[in-house]
Amino acid sequence: MCGIVGFIGRQQAAPILLDGLSKLEYRGYDSAGMAVYDGQKIRVEKSTGRLKVLSELTHDGSTMPGTVGIGHTRWATHGEPSDRNAHPHCNTEKSIAVVHNGIIENYMKLKKKLLDHGYEFISDTDTEVVAQLLDYYYKKTNGDIIDTITRVMHRVEGSYALGIIFAEHPDHVYALRKDAPLIVGKSKDGNLIASDVPAILKYTRDVYFIENEEIACLTEDDIRFYNIDGEPIEKTSRTIEWDINAAEKGGYEYFMLKEMYEQPKTVRDTLNPRIKDGQIVIEELGMSDEEIRAIERIHIVACGSAYHTGVTAKYIMEGLARIPVEVDLASEFRYRNPILNKNDLVVIISQSGETADSLAALREAKAKGVKTLGIINVVGSSIAREADRVMYTWAGPEIAVATTKAYTAQLIAHYLLAIHFAQVKGQVTDEEVAEMLTDLKAIPAQIEMLLANKEHIQKIANRYVGARDVFFIGRGIDYAIGMEGSLKLKEISYIHSEAYAAGELKHGTISLIEEGTLVAALVTQKDLYKKTLSNIVEVRSRGAVVLAVTNEDNTEIEKNADYVIYIPQTNKYFTNSLAIIPLQLFAYYVSVGRGCDVDKPRNLAKSVTVE
Ligand code: M6R
Repeated sequence: MCGIVGFIGRQQAAPILLDGLSKLEYRGYDSAGMAVYDGQKIRVEKSTGRLKVLSELTHDGSTMPGTVGIGHTRWATHGEPSDRNAHPHCNTEKSIAVVHNGIIENYMKLKKKLLDHGYEFISDTDTEVVAQLLDYYYKKTNGDIIDTITRVMHRVEGSYALGIIFAEHPDHVYALRKDAPLIVGKSKDGNLIASDVPAILKYTRDVYFIENEEIACLTEDDIRFYNIDGEPIEKTSRTIEWDINAAEKGGYEYFMLKEMYEQPKTVRDTLNPRIKDGQIVIEELGMSDEEIRAIERIHIVACGSAYHTGVTAKYIMEGLARIPVEVDLASEFRYRNPILNKNDLVVIISQSGETADSLAALREAKAKGVKTLGIINVVGSSIAREADRVMYTWAGPEIAVATTKAYTAQLIAHYLLAIHFAQVKGQVTDEEVAEMLTDLKAIPAQIEMLLANKEHIQKIANRYVGARDVFFIGRGIDYAIGMEGSLKLKEISYIHSEAYAAGELKHGTISLIEEGTLVAALVTQKDLYKKTLSNIVEVRSRGAVVLAVTNEDNTEIEKNADYVIYIPQTNKYFTNSLAIIPLQLFAYYVSVGRGCDVDKPRNLAKSVTVE
């Protein structure tokens, strides 16, 4: 979704804005722009296409003098991607410039009011309405900016993170938010605003998280905060510990490849601090054994890959801890009036911690008085702040739109949670726990081994660069692995792909199998192996080419599959962490082979902050 940056300080703003925007590219965008106060007026440059176009247009920012500015990458919602609709947007006199992430839901009503007052609009966006509304109140309040901004906040409905500059107050940058991410960074050379940490990490690690309906007012040396009533408020900054190199490609062709290779480390980082003296200790959970025993049902709510983690987690939590689990897509959960009881636990899984539907689901659960737990990667994100408890996945910044390392870290968090709950409930013996912990600790090295096999996967992938459809089949946890493998492939290669519970195939989907159709079969569950094998035979006899991913060293699979990828042995509940690695590599190499933009697939955004 859209990315916002802003700078005010002692250096030229435009190159800093361009640099910050480049770190937000992963969020997805179709146009980019900047507004800089050049000493006399606000100058705006914007263009559709990649950031490169804006860099060329402004000679890397050098043709935009001035030390105060805001920048934006736009992911179109209201109005087609075009120069006209690109941000920043201004009032008619071009004395106010605005960048915006989010959706103003009542913009039509506001636009009508402004049209009635003689305002004219040149774009189709909801953001231009905000720029003109600021103008309207600015004039009405005789230039009282905080009053202007709070009046606008009271009028607009929907979500917004806004960066604003006023030509008549060129020594300030203003920022405000509601339900869209925004942070403020404090550095010795000036102050910054951004949608996300990587954009400012080069300049500072001192960050303020703006809460809903708060305003930040930045000058070169000072940052002040106000609430929606315009009253000053105190905020404390936090230090960001992220490794700056984690937000750089570090010699890899794509972030996705780099992030896949980081998985042994990110799995270790998520796992090791939570195993102490042979016991699972999840300090941040803050739940007593009584509270855990009292849980009657768990509702896991998430989107995309995080949802797939939830599907896997259901099998594990129910299998180990015997607690019933429901898994919901966040976009469905919030509108189906879910039945939540006081002894239920709602778990929201999210890499970004900003996904609009997941955030709304969290609020729905909280409004119903149910305990909530966030499994979140981005520290200080909205869901992390609003959930009753947070368990962080220590995957570090993930830049590629297709998640890899955050997903495998989420799995680890759920294994730990399930074993811990099972132990508290007396569902597993100490010996079983010890065995599982041994298997968990082996996972990073096993992932390393699988990654080392990349050439083999690349060769197979190269043969399917031209595939039209690919199907993923499996049963139980293998079905969940297939869902994630399928999403990885389709989102970055644009090849149509579906995941099916292997037993469900013959109820319709098998009619799509024809000569040469690739079917990836996941066969990691001993008790289901024979059943899935018979599904492999079914599709093969209809012409499918079968790629099997298995831990079974079995001649039947060798005989019936065209390609076999072996994963190391592990506990039956943990196979997803290993089987997903070849599927990530497969998707990656198909995407590279097709010449796709692996890290920034079309139409997608890293963090989906609108409904
Ligand atoms: O930040 P979140 O984990 O809440 O994001 C959820 C989905 O948008 C995300 O997993 C998406 O499906 C990815 N593109 C998958 O690779």
